[in-house]
Amino acid sequence: MKHKSTVLITGGSGGIGLCLAREFANAGNDIILAASNAERLEKARTSLLEGCNVNVYCFVSDLAAHEGAERLYNDIKAAGHTVDILVNNAGFGDYAEFVDSDWEKQERMVTLNITCLMHLCHLYGAEMKKRGNGRILNIASCAAFAPGPYMAVYYASKAFVLSFSEALSVELKEYGVSVTALCLGPTTTNFTNAADMKKGCTMFKKIKPDTPEAVAKTGYKAVMRGRAVKYHGAPTVFTALAVRFAPRALVRYFTKGINSKPETENK
Ligand SMILES: NC(=O)c1ccc[n+]([C@@H]2O[C@H](COP(=O)([O-])OP(=O)(O)OC[C@H]3O[C@@H](n4cnc5c(N)ncnc54)[C@H](OP(=O)(O)O)[C@@H]3O)[C@@H](O)[C@H]2O)c1
Repeated sequence: MKHKSTVLITGGSGGIGLCLAREFANAGNDIILAASNAERLEKARTSLLEGCNVNVYCFVSDLAAHEGAERLYNDIKAAGHTVDILVNNAGFGDYAEFVDSDWEKQERMVTLNITCLMHLCHLYGAEMKKRGNGRILNIASCAAFAPGPYMAVYYASKAFVLSFSEALSVELKEYGVSVTALCLGPTTTNFTNAADMKKGCTMFKKIKPDTPEAVAKTGYKAVMRGRAVKYHGAPTVFTALAVRFAPRALVRYFTKGINSKPETENK
């Protein structure tokens, strides 16, 4: 791989994605940020350029929309960029009783957290395989380890990300391409607002949240070392171990207790 890489980070306009972008930029790599809000993207670009002598390109893309991933891939290709490192970070959750939740939000969540991630791995993974090098970082979660009452679709989407990434890491290893899944616990970003967690979710009260900067440092190191799976933080390591030994029935009620029932319904 050439010394200076071009790194595509979905959801790179804030939170963990922007902190990951900073890690890669500090190491001298060019950055491509993709997110849906143009203003936030431009702010992120300006903040990255302060103190880093790298190129930062922005692509405004709604990746929760049908064919959003393919449109982004085509736009990046048309602009003449080759992606050496793909970071599938964009994602959101929703805190609600599933049957009372907004259907469109669930569908967009699945498109962003699963379909878009999978499609970008398919498109860029094929290019990386042909080249014989490349790295992929998929942001999973400790939600990947267990069913999550009141955030059922989100937890299931992250279980997909972890399982899919591990399988892909084995398939692509022989072609010189690494795939890393990063599992992390509560982190202070806009995630809680996007997931509507203010209406009673107790997870962030029960588990002390970490900073996105700390998460990004772990993610950067893990992807550069080509780790297949990396757990960030003691609560994540503990949960990963505990679910291996605890009865499944206990696990799903434990998660119910961590999340707590929403105080009001969506409808
Ligand atoms: N924070 C946590 O506690 C936590 C814990 C475990 C895992 N994670 C995972 O970490 C990842 C990053 O989340 P975060 O905590 O940094 O949340 P965040 O602060 O809400 O950031 C989410 C990023 O995704 C982008 N995004 C959202 N919808 C999008 C869409 N339709 N199209 C394109 N981009 C979109 C957002 O930008 P725009 O709004 O401008 O589009 C933003 O840049 C997610 O995959 C999340 O599931 C977070």
